[in-house]
Amino acid sequence: MIQLDLSNIRSFVPEDWLTSRKDRLEQARVMLEEGNGPGGDFTGWVHLPRDYDKEEFARIQKAAKKIQSDSEALVVIGIGGSYLGARAVVELIQSPNYNLKKKDTPDIYFAGNGLSTDALLETIELVKDRDFSVNVISKSGTTTEPAVAFRIFKNLLEEKYGKEEARKRIYATTDAHKGALKGLADSEGYEEFVVPDAVGGRFSVLTAVGLLPIAVAGIDLDELMGGAAEAMEALAVPGLENPAWQYAAARHALYTAGKSTEILVGYEPSFRFFAEWWKQLYGESEGKDGKGLFPASVEFTADLHSMGQYIQEGQRLMFESVVRFQESKGSYTIPHDPDNVDGLNFLSGKPLTFVAEQALRGTLLAHVDGGVPNILIQALRRDARTVGQLIYFFEYSCGLSGYLLEVNPFNQPGVEAYKKNMYALLGKPGYEEHRAALEARL
Ligand code: PA5
Repeated sequence: MIQLDLSNIRSFVPEDWLTSRKDRLEQARVMLEEGNGPGGDFTGWVHLPRDYDKEEFARIQKAAKKIQSDSEALVVIGIGGSYLGARAVVELIQSPNYNLKKKDTPDIYFAGNGLSTDALLETIELVKDRDFSVNVISKSGTTTEPAVAFRIFKNLLEEKYGKEEARKRIYATTDAHKGALKGLADSEGYEEFVVPDAVGGRFSVLTAVGLLPIAVAGIDLDELMGGAAEAMEALAVPGLENPAWQYAAARHALYTAGKSTEILVGYEPSFRFFAEWWKQLYGESEGKDGKGLFPASVEFTADLHSMGQYIQEGQRLMFESVVRFQESKGSYTIPHDPDNVDGLNFLSGKPLTFVAEQALRGTLLAHVDGGVPNILIQALRRDARTVGQLIYFFEYSCGLSGYLLEVNPFNQPGVEAYKKNMYALLGKPGYEEHRAALEARL
């Protein structure tokens, strides 16, 4: 299971940082378990690793096999919570270079997560002459970015295969009852998967939203869900030994002590999108009512040569949460060089992991000495089981942490402001007055 080392926050927070939060953590636990706190209608993810729809789960695996057999590429269309989880897991377990690797599973391209014309054209170019399928994902079914991308890729599929065959290559993941995508999927007869009502976008990676693309990439869904279920059981146990209680309390204590930024640190390039997923999870859950830690991320050691300076000596705003994988998938030993011109023979015969470990230890102490508290989060390895545990650990901690902060961790009212302006400026019917007011200001 996930383990925490909190020894390097001690000098920055009062001695009772954990014990003083015990009662509030217990209240938060009950609210999550019983779904009766603020936003309780959106706590369907809490028991998801146990209560997930087994029939749909089997259908996801079947659809993944079909895509693997008839497609060289899968275009996954979605944004925010309908995008980041799948990409995070595929990159963390497989590789950020997944598409470049020799493999017997399809390439995966993510589209509809922005409005860049060039990015869209590039993806079209990469898939148009190959056999491909599309998984369009939108809980609301009305989000502009994926809706526009879907229209384009749907046309491409229909031109390439004809309407009938195109239908068989489109998989729609959306609300069970409502939304434009649901209507389209019903009328066209696409295979449909559901984003459960009680699960918000940023908590949806273990639903069909994440699971279909993850399965297409050849990742074992039973292992992923098994890891999440292990974490669910372990983290439901109340007490100050609970790592989710510790993480939530540590973040809250550091926030109360004046820190405004949490930097999630990874030492694996494959961790980059997991950090993006984490930023959405914590940023959307806690950044409201004028409150919340700003979630940032860095990749070490690369960013030690850029952001490292600021972290060591800039404004003392931040603390670090370092995710360390205890095992690498492979090993590499630093070779001996008889000439030793580079002076590196003191490392000859040592595994590269030894060098990485000393970089982590040295950086941790340097940053703590520089006034940056450190939470060390230890996970076993980059496999499906561990990643399932890690996902659930961060989700559950996020729920606890939001309740400690006294916000509703499960809404995102701020996301609507830009959408309203964009709809108005685009000329969407019903937004005429708002459009005139905005145009007068621009
Ligand atoms: O967390 C959220 O609610 C958002 O990031 C949504 O996931 C994002 O806006 C996409 O929404 P939808 O799935 O409705 O297209």
